[in-house]
Amino acid sequence: WQAHLPWIDAILRLKKQRNAVILAHNYQTPEIFHAVADITGDSLALAQQATRTDAEVIVLCGVHFMAETAKVLNPAKTVLIPDPGAGCSLAASITAADVRLLKQRYPGVPVVAYVNTSAEVKAEVDVCCTSANAVHVVESLGAERVIFLPDQYLGRYVAAQTKVKIILWNGACEVHERFTAAQLRGIRAEQGEVHILAHPECMPEVLAEADFVGSTAAMVTHLRKTQPKRVVMITECSMADNVSAEFPQMEFTRPCNLCPHMKKNTLPKIHDALLHMRHRVEIDPAVIERARRSLERMLAIGR
Ligand code: 13P
Ligand code: SF4
Repeated sequence: WQAHLPWIDAILRLKKQRNAVILAHNYQTPEIFHAVADITGDSLALAQQATRTDAEVIVLCGVHFMAETAKVLNPAKTVLIPDPGAGCSLAASITAADVRLLKQRYPGVPVVAYVNTSAEVKAEVDVCCTSANAVHVVESLGAERVIFLPDQYLGRYVAAQTKVKIILWNGACEVHERFTAAQLRGIRAEQGEVHILAHPECMPEVLAEADFVGSTAAMVTHLRKTQPKRVVMITECSMADNVSAEFPQMEFTRPCNLCPHMKKNTLPKIHDALLHMRHRVEIDPAVIERARRSLERMLAIGR
């Protein structure tokens, strides 16, 4: 932490000068999450909060699709991303042209896009969802069949909770796909009494071994309610690092996987983003207009 202090001081100063707010996803490292962020949360919370800020500048410490979401919801504001190379394997798995082809193949079937997609993809779909409200969003459409993209595992998880028939795309999160059911069985065999929380981007056989499945924010709410003694979070590594500060009485044990995209954000890059007012997220206004409808429809549904 000693090495972080000069950066933290400089960022806090610049933040004031620029009238900026820093939104950070739960997967950001503790020095970003605890020391410089104004608002932290899961993808849904960040999208919701992006609509409520009075700041002129939004710095989105997360991945590119999250910064795009903030821009779509705030076209008049300056939205900065500390590292524009912070992508996501899910967002990279599908293009707007793919969605247009899907719509031709299944005419009249509504399309739900996980927020882990580009703004161009969001512009082609009926509504967005996050892992916190996916079932809710799918059911809100009142359709017999729904196209759900791009995460095949979240899609299968939703399909298991609803009567709506789900047509899947074959995207996957490169971080959550690496967890295996054998790994979870191994943890239980080795550690005995342990509470396992898993993100719905994991494979179905992994989710079947978990005690709780939910978005990163739902995991925190669940821990507050259930207060287990020993916890394993089957998700990105910073999640347990950040959450353990709130629950000093709980023992958090590994495994976890790092998201190389989330980890591209660092204090020096946040500092430089504010100093040079770079890397601005720019999106074609016609795309903003259409993507915004899909996002606002999701926000109206809520969590
Ligand atoms: P949450 O919406 O649960 O925070 O997840 C975002 C994400 O990228 C998970 O990998
Ligand atoms: Fe994308 Fe997975 Fe990283 Fe989340 S953890 S940003 S879904 S690659």
